[in-house]
Amino acid sequence: MSYNTVDIADTAFINYLTKLFNLSIGDLRCMVKEIHSEMQKGLSGYSSSIKMIPSFVGLPDGSEEGSFLALDLGGTNFRVVEVVLDGKGKASTEASSKYTLKKKDIQGTGAQLFDFIAECIKEFINEYSLDLHKTYELGFTFSFPVEQTNVAAGALISWCKGFTSTGVEGEDVVVLLNEALKRKDINNVKVAALVNDTVGTLVAKNYSVSDCDIGVILGTGTNACYCEKMLNITKWRGISHRDSMIINMEWGIFDKLPFTYYDRTLDKQTENVQDHLMEKMVSGMYLGELTRLVLKDMANREICFFDRDLSHFTRNGSFKTEYMSRIVEDESDTLSDIEEFMKEFGFISINLESKQILKDICSIIAKRSARISSTAIAAVILWKDPELKETHTVGIDGSLFEKFPGYCDMMYSTLKEHFGSKIKNVKLETAKDGSGKGAAIIAAIAAKSEQE
Ligand code: BGC
Repeated sequence: MSYNTVDIADTAFINYLTKLFNLSIGDLRCMVKEIHSEMQKGLSGYSSSIKMIPSFVGLPDGSEEGSFLALDLGGTNFRVVEVVLDGKGKASTEASSKYTLKKKDIQGTGAQLFDFIAECIKEFINEYSLDLHKTYELGFTFSFPVEQTNVAAGALISWCKGFTSTGVEGEDVVVLLNEALKRKDINNVKVAALVNDTVGTLVAKNYSVSDCDIGVILGTGTNACYCEKMLNITKWRGISHRDSMIINMEWGIFDKLPFTYYDRTLDKQTENVQDHLMEKMVSGMYLGELTRLVLKDMANREICFFDRDLSHFTRNGSFKTEYMSRIVEDESDTLSDIEEFMKEFGFISINLESKQILKDICSIIAKRSARISSTAIAAVILWKDPELKETHTVGIDGSLFEKFPGYCDMMYSTLKEHFGSKIKNVKLETAKDGSGKGAAIIAAIAAKSEQE
């Protein structure tokens, strides 16, 4: 097949992909039912692909006060932040530093990873001249599935998102952090709370938007949390003075989904095979790779221009989700930006149809992601409020939601299919800095309840 032509086989293949990745509203309604059934199992303590992990915290009341540190581990960077809460519902970031995680930090031993974290904290303390005689309470945002046993304790269930540090799974990550702090002679930091990023997101957003009752991450990974009545958490065996508690769902692990050949191929390449299967269909860490696998398949079948030079994209992970953003963003008649982009990768003189095909593939894969994530949100809303009588703001953090062109619109249009005119009761809003401000607020709640 020639480089510059698109024939009927190409169109047929795109039609095939469209069907393959399409999820009808019927499919999505079945998904809502499956999610509810897994949520029920998770809350009752049965084995489930949605873990429903009690976070040991409820929603804040705005009275939290003081200066706190927060750590954020779980995506591409590691962050240390100092946050001041004024006791009147305001949280401000006083200082913040970002550190790049290298492969050796996240795929070596656990001690290496936690030493890296402690070293960054040390640097932060020096850089911002923190008071060495004051004890700083710290909220540790650790965005992995953790079975919490306390507000400041919990064992890692399993790694995901490319982290593989040895000797951490099954261990209490707060103990591991404390040991590293000791090794680095840091004596003025006390881990007051272990926080999932979704929980931090919900808490931070609820500070300013009181009907925010669901926190979602759509970034490198995906997950959600919401506030559940204690009575419904039937696996709960402790005593609690509260009526409700935030549940970290760990919905990325949900596995009752129609997987394609490409999903299975992608899964086999990952460090956590057969785990986090919904995450692998939805989140930013994987969408680019799914696209690459489709392009590779097209090249093997000698379809379109992809039969030419895929050498830039031969490696797993070489086609990034941000490339997809750039491609779908091109609204020009000639798709000139796509052409520019393709030139950077060694493709020259590509005809319009081929560029359109590339755009279509990216859109198809992103659309499926948005339909799944918004359906999972619909499931949580319907779980809490089956007739959608109340208003619900969903606080969402993550680059996929924030930066992928049209992602939020695709989510709304799927929610409309679920809810019809009642969609007016649902708002999807960006929620920034849950892992900083949110973790600080949770550390404040935890520190206060310890004093009581
Ligand atoms: C983790 C969650 C986390 C989510 C978003 C998932 O891979 O299992 O704990 O909330 O990523 O960061």
